[in-house]
Amino acid sequence: MSSAGPRGLQGVPEALQDRESWLDPFDWYRRMREEAPVRYDPERRTWDVFRYEDVKRALDDDETFSVDPSRADDFEEPTEPGEGLILDTMLFEDPPRHDELRGVVDDWFQPRTLADRESHFRALAGELLDDAVDGGGELDVVADLAYPFPVTVIAELLGIPPSDRDRFKRWSDTLVAAASDDEGAERFTERQQRSQMEMGQYFLEAIEERRENPRDDLLSVIVTEETDAGERLSHEEALGTCMLLLVAGNITTTNLIANAVRTFAEEDADLFERLRGDDRALTRAVEEVLRYRSPVQAMSRVATEDVRMGGETIAAGDRVVVWLGSANRDERRFDDADAFRPDRSPNQHLGFGHGTHYCLGAPLARLEAEVALSELLDRVEGVRLAETTLQPTRSAFVYGVESLPVRYDER
Ligand code: HEM
Repeated sequence: MSSAGPRGLQGVPEALQDRESWLDPFDWYRRMREEAPVRYDPERRTWDVFRYEDVKRALDDDETFSVDPSRADDFEEPTEPGEGLILDTMLFEDPPRHDELRGVVDDWFQPRTLADRESHFRALAGELLDDAVDGGGELDVVADLAYPFPVTVIAELLGIPPSDRDRFKRWSDTLVAAASDDEGAERFTERQQRSQMEMGQYFLEAIEERRENPRDDLLSVIVTEETDAGERLSHEEALGTCMLLLVAGNITTTNLIANAVRTFAEEDADLFERLRGDDRALTRAVEEVLRYRSPVQAMSRVATEDVRMGGETIAAGDRVVVWLGSANRDERRFDDADAFRPDRSPNQHLGFGHGTHYCLGAPLARLEAEVALSELLDRVEGVRLAETTLQPTRSAFVYGVESLPVRYDER
């Protein structure tokens, strides 16, 4: 059997083999929460955890449930150059190293730091929308807004020139995607590795340059800032951090924005009007999208000791997949869990994870979504989904659609 790969998520469960099911895994989750809330899947050699309390417990207990894939019994060292880079990042390190790595960039992702840039982000979203809302009455929310906006934002934060942004989007997409049926696993892996190499090479040059001439950008912080342990990040760690920020932040935020527009249009046609100009209501509605259609559906862990959960014993060295998308629909935790309630409060969803690895980019993702949606609302009304069959993204673990054509009336 092939290696699970660094993320431990490559194997798709039998119930989700058919790509069509990725847009509606929720019946399967419900069945699993009832019948097998903690279960071992011998095909993927992985435990799956479906209930809110269990998922949260695993995320909170990082001593028993490690993010470090090399602790899995069946871990295989990455063989390709560059493949292991992302393993050297906070996402796959346990404390104390995790905290040192995260501390280097933490400040840049705090709401107060981001607030200084909000008007600039607004201008970027506005530019994209001014091109898209051109009197034609139709736009593709993904291609015209949700796709280019987050990559432009993170590229600007890092200090990447506009001319290189298309390349970034392509690389980061390839790195989180799954193989398509017609391409085949082997060719896909090759393509993924090529992307990783190209991206790595690009960043290496940029890192060298920032070491010589630091500027006011995130890349310079990554190469010059000292950790709490008093050292700078190694070359590999700096490179891995750059790649992580792109991979973790782009597709996810794209899907949050598109999932929001899709959900508002499907569930409640008047919602767009109610949200226009009401920032608090918009904030709550975005939180509910994060719960109802969580962009990240699952994360992976490794048990460091034998542990009892849901009446089963997970053995030390076993891999565990926690299903955030299922936890967020758990009727034990949320009233009317399968209903989209834009004013739900409180709303303690796990869409950004929980505990030590709680999403570093959560404040940025929230801000981007709110900015993108409010700029859209400023320009259009009566947003309706065009009559097309929605195609899910190319990963069973990332919830979203590949494109979202909508019709609108211009304001
Ligand atoms: C971690 C989701 C946007 C950077 C996480 C985790 C989740 C998540 C579930 C936890 C991983 C785990 O527990 O193993 C999301 C969603 C996003 C989003 C749903 C958008 C809607 C972003 C953005 C960035 C980012 C915009 C940065 C530009 C990170 C990083 C981590 C992380 C660096 C690792 C944190 C750590 O290990 O301490 N994200 N994310 N994310 N996210 Fe996000």
